[in-house]
Amino acid sequence: MTPWAIGVPGQPHSARAGESDSQAGTTIDTMYESEFLLDDSVIYLNHAAVAPWPRRTVDAVRAFAAENGAFGSHNYASWVHTETLLRERLRQLLHARTTDEIALLKNTSEALSVVAWGLPWAAGDNVVISNQEFPSNRVVWESLDALGVETHPANLYKAESPEAALIARMNDRTRLLSVSSVQYGSGLRLDLAKLGAACRERGILFCVDVIQSLGALDLNVRTCQADFVMADGHKWLLAPEGLAVFYCRQEVMERIALKQYGWHMLRDPLNFDSHSREVAPNARRFECGSPNMLGIHALHASLDLILETGIDRIEQLVLENSRFMMDFLAARADRFEIITPCTPGQYAGIVTFKPLRESPESLFDALRQHHVACALRGGGVRFSPHFYTPRNKLFTALNLLDT
Ligand SMILES: Cc1ncc(COP(=O)(O)O)c(C=O)c1O
Repeated sequence: MTPWAIGVPGQPHSARAGESDSQAGTTIDTMYESEFLLDDSVIYLNHAAVAPWPRRTVDAVRAFAAENGAFGSHNYASWVHTETLLRERLRQLLHARTTDEIALLKNTSEALSVVAWGLPWAAGDNVVISNQEFPSNRVVWESLDALGVETHPANLYKAESPEAALIARMNDRTRLLSVSSVQYGSGLRLDLAKLGAACRERGILFCVDVIQSLGALDLNVRTCQADFVMADGHKWLLAPEGLAVFYCRQEVMERIALKQYGWHMLRDPLNFDSHSREVAPNARRFECGSPNMLGIHALHASLDLILETGIDRIEQLVLENSRFMMDFLAARADRFEIITPCTPGQYAGIVTFKPLRESPESLFDALRQHHVACALRGGGVRFSPHFYTPRNKLFTALNLLDT
């Protein structure tokens, strides 16, 4: 039995709070109470923006601050140990072959810039993207026009198959396809395996911004044949801003010229007396200076919760929440248009919808007044609960749409 059965569309929905999740013997309500610290007044449906940290992450940050205050960096070796464990947890989450393919960078945009400005381009080359992209995944490619590189956006609005629309936009000068796994506004989820196969067949590099899915959906960088994958921790990974994972497939690593320099990227970073400029043989070469140890401790703790819960279980719960919202809205089609595609496989954790009898702005303001954290995106109101969002909270937010 799934933990949350869905009410009959059009009929009053029951909250079904406290129903048992047979897989783990816990309820989402119990997890919400024990693992999160959200204020009772808040209904948090904004993980596609910036997520709240779980209790264990808050504790890890407090402990790190206390240790630093009391002992400075005296226990630096144990910090490095946590960093090593974090890389392994990220490897596991991405199903990467080895942690050598993983770098820790500042944010998604920095990782995209490392790829864009590191690859060797020739004038006339082009990059294919979608026309629904978040600015970070558009401007970085457009900036290459200084080198004569063109950016070709594929129109995904009303495309029968968004993947086919992206593939159709490729030509013999296409060097790279760059997409977000889930579009930040519409919530459209792309079939990465299909896109990756099309790229590999044509010798085109495949770059995936997974900030809107990592931590919510299972991702296997090998089966989707991605060359570059990046995500900051502050959305579905439930961690602070400012620490991102960057996966770079070993076979393409040498193709990226390095544009930032410092001690940490060298093969032998602790040999400060050496005059060698030889860089690390792995993805550490992309990390030029001191690591963000505070962020590392926080993301490590957040991943602890995600891996302990299990990404398969998380994905199931995230998709059930989306389905629940879609059924609720579909039963009120005279008042709401669902912008997010409702076909299974084409949505993830985001559901964006447009009120037909008022402006999205006025609905957003009303929801905010009732302490519903959500966003105005993609031409509507965007709800993005996570796996742990109790059904009764979601139900309360949706009921506000009826008032
Ligand atoms: C798809 C997508 N990519 C990138 C970003 C920005 O990421 P960062 O701030 O880590 O560069 C966002 C933020 O909303 C996003 O939705």
